[in-house]
Amino acid sequence: MCGIFGCFLKNENAAPLIHSALKRLEYRGYDSVGIATISNGTIFLKKGQGKIDEVHKNINLNDLPGNIGIGHTRWATHGAPLQVNSHPHSDCTGKITVVHNGIIENFNDLKIELQNLGHTFTSKTDTEVIPHLIEETLKNKPDLPFEEVVQETLKRLEGSYAIATIFSQEPNKIVCARNESPLVLGIGDNGIYFASDIPAFLPLTTRALHIDNGELVILTADGYKIKNIQTNQTIERLPETVDWTSDMAVKDGYPHFMIKEIHEQPETLRNTFRLQEHYLDLMSTFLDRATEIFLVACGTSYHACLAASYMFSKLAFLPTYPVYASEFIEQYGKSVNIDSTILAVSQSGETADTIAAVATAQQRAATILSLTNTIGSTLTRISRVYIGTQAGPEISVAATKTFTSQLSVLAQLALRLAKKRGKVSQSEIDILDAQLEKLPDIVDTIVKTQQEKAKQIAHKYANSKLLFFLGKGISTATAFEGRLKLLEVAYIPSVVFPAGESKHGPISLIEQDLPVIFVCQKDDTHKTVISNIMEMKARGAKIIAITEEDDHEIKNLADDYLEVPKNIPSILSPIPFVIPLQLLAYHMALEFNHNPDTPRNLAKSVTVR
Ligand code: AGP
Repeated sequence: MCGIFGCFLKNENAAPLIHSALKRLEYRGYDSVGIATISNGTIFLKKGQGKIDEVHKNINLNDLPGNIGIGHTRWATHGAPLQVNSHPHSDCTGKITVVHNGIIENFNDLKIELQNLGHTFTSKTDTEVIPHLIEETLKNKPDLPFEEVVQETLKRLEGSYAIATIFSQEPNKIVCARNESPLVLGIGDNGIYFASDIPAFLPLTTRALHIDNGELVILTADGYKIKNIQTNQTIERLPETVDWTSDMAVKDGYPHFMIKEIHEQPETLRNTFRLQEHYLDLMSTFLDRATEIFLVACGTSYHACLAASYMFSKLAFLPTYPVYASEFIEQYGKSVNIDSTILAVSQSGETADTIAAVATAQQRAATILSLTNTIGSTLTRISRVYIGTQAGPEISVAATKTFTSQLSVLAQLALRLAKKRGKVSQSEIDILDAQLEKLPDIVDTIVKTQQEKAKQIAHKYANSKLLFFLGKGISTATAFEGRLKLLEVAYIPSVVFPAGESKHGPISLIEQDLPVIFVCQKDDTHKTVISNIMEMKARGAKIIAITEEDDHEIKNLADDYLEVPKNIPSILSPIPFVIPLQLLAYHMALEFNHNPDTPRNLAKSVTVR
């Protein structure tokens, strides 16, 4: 996730305005920033690594000439957060300049093709193929107007993008386009703006117009023109007035980042399928050859590791050890060695306990692999191979979208390993692959249909002094994560156990009306889970089930339930099953008027041990 903004102004200089608009988009990424303007047929460009204020202090982003310009604030996905990878990116001639938010899936093939045609690349980004490809189209069709050259070029791109481009030889236009990454126009009295998000231009205008997938926009002194990229049809669309405050706009109209990020999960999950195959293959090769594998993480990331340990063993027949990073050195610091492989998982890539565990393992010559949402973090720098989880910045302290993104990448790794190790039939793998790809839609359905019910259940049980979370098999990990979310944002004491363990002690806490949340995926644990539910009911517990929509047996036993669509393969179940638990925790927090985005005593990134 990055932020793009640009403007076509009537009189003023564009750069200072782009600079201040990018500041309002900084929540979308802050690895680097850049602005390009156009004046008297020349492109002027400044960019730098770091947060906007730091870069501005060094290179003054405001003094570029011209009333037309484009800008970008970056959240690194392809290529480290370095100056060289900062946007805008240009073609070989420096006449075409592009900013981009999204992921170009086929960039590797395009890059090789363009390099063979003599193009020189300066960055490691996927974006840089766009200006070079435009340059190539222009060479072949020099008579076409720039917008048509861009339109032709876009037909070759696969993946997600919101782009904006300027061309020094047609200096009176900006061409923008959208596919699966947000793009919105702002229509003001002093000019037209394009942006990733409304807050970027909200102090300038409240008249906004959303661009849809597959659309191209041409901004000129006469206004805007929208076309369908494939059919070339002109699209008539008028702006609407938005009545958001700036604070609401940053949260896209949601009251809190936590609920915004819960709602973003269909999109962030889709992004996890745009991972570079090459890295998934490389990492699964390392895992396949490993003698012993530790899955090391803290908090929510640890729960992703716990789920992954079931995925790896059940699918790929590969045993792994999930370990709390804070315990790793005590437990394995002496035994970890050259034959050990560490797969560290961390949203921030900066968690002190995770880094310390990894550093210890590295000193003892272990192989370090990692999964993180923050390219350029300490973890990426000390890993042999890392994969970015592509969830974009997560602002709420409670991890939600980064958890499901981690799970999706881990499931893809497990599937690759299963294939490599030949333990699972091709038809079974095909079914799982297909189900995995359906998850964004499934999650979308859950978020849309279960929110109101989660709110009612939260209200009904808000006075509970204690809650239980139980799950069996891979759902143990889901139950652990559901409980962490509730503790974190609603501060309700709650206990979690694998369902089978409950009768070895925790059941002594059960008394009349105590709510017990069961995560009930439909697999071979189903019968035992039903017995566990009966044990709890017999002692007066109230059962809240997270269940599949057609699981009438569970629904009949439960006092309340939240449901997910049917036929979810058990191995993928933590992704959909955790969504109702995230919603429940969020609404519980609201019951007590807690701000779920900033829970007491917690920090987003825990950089002390
Ligand atoms: C999750 O909601 C928490 N904020 C916390 O447990 C977090 O997952 C943990 O601190 C690990 O962070 P990391 O993924 O950035 O390493």
